[in-house]
Amino acid sequence: MTQEIYLTGITTTGTPHIGNYVGAIQPGIVASKDPATEHFYFLADYHSLAKNEDPDKIVQSTLEIAASWMALGLDTDRAYFYRQSDIPEIPELTWILTGMTAKGLMNRAHSYKAAVQANEESGNKDPDKGVMMALYSYPILMAADILMFKSTKVPVGRDQKQHVEMARDIAQRFNHHYGEIFALPEAVTDEHVAVLPGRDGRKMSKSYNNTIPLWLPEKRLRKAIMRIVTNSLEPGEPKDPDDSALYSIYAAFASPEQREAMRQAYRDGIAWGAAKQQAFELINEELIQGRERYEALIAEPARIEETLLEGAQKARAWATPFLGRIREAVGIRGLK
Ligand code: TRP
Repeated sequence: MTQEIYLTGITTTGTPHIGNYVGAIQPGIVASKDPATEHFYFLADYHSLAKNEDPDKIVQSTLEIAASWMALGLDTDRAYFYRQSDIPEIPELTWILTGMTAKGLMNRAHSYKAAVQANEESGNKDPDKGVMMALYSYPILMAADILMFKSTKVPVGRDQKQHVEMARDIAQRFNHHYGEIFALPEAVTDEHVAVLPGRDGRKMSKSYNNTIPLWLPEKRLRKAIMRIVTNSLEPGEPKDPDDSALYSIYAAFASPEQREAMRQAYRDGIAWGAAKQQAFELINEELIQGRERYEALIAEPARIEETLLEGAQKARAWATPFLGRIREAVGIRGLK
């Protein structure tokens, strides 16, 4: 059997939140300790351009996400850890793949369809109003990220699963046309934690403004947890853990025994305030050490920059010759 190659990216918009931690960073670090597999983790800064963010915010987000991976103990000597834009082979591969991507496939992307639907609902005559090509062809850039390193396993939240399937479709079409070049990737979603709810119960996402930032100082972390929306059931009244954002957030950090005990506490009518206090203590305990390392790292951006550039060098040692083969296959060649 060929070796499994894991790859995942985080878009550099916003401050890392506990959803990124339980959904990507923490499981990624644990998995990267397995010597039988290879791991690619990167900062998807080109993807952030689809949202037309403030440039300084993109840089700040890159710094914070990189520092988070490092503070939590990613072994950057073993894993490939890099910034997407330091790998010029990726935008080049994106264009090559664009020639193998049906427009109809992109029409079906959830993120594009959501933008069109929003326009229709607000009565806009142009369904594509405000849709940039970077949003529309976002899945092709993501396919290039994935296919560039022949990754076979792509850990993502459920909302990104479709994009991984599209990468697979594009790879299949390419291989059919030009010969077996790409590995076929598969999305890996952990059903347990893939979509962490935010404070309001919807998916924790920067776009909903419902996140709990990962590195809040202790007092502010406590406040943020106290603001998680619950219902009006009184202490003593039984509560349903499966209908509670607070429970889901707690569960993402808890051991199976802790989860079971909390479920029982809900059934026994634990007060919301007490359940929140327990969630705060559990989450804070898990983050205390990382928080200290994070603060030290963030004060030294040059060290992070150096680590990213080393990672890019390592990744390009793979990407440059592989892109050479791809160029050759599609007919982008020198004249002999
Ligand atoms: N689009 C992903 C997100 O917003 C981030 C991402 C970019 C990614 N490229 C990737 C994830 C490649 C997995 C593989 O969450």
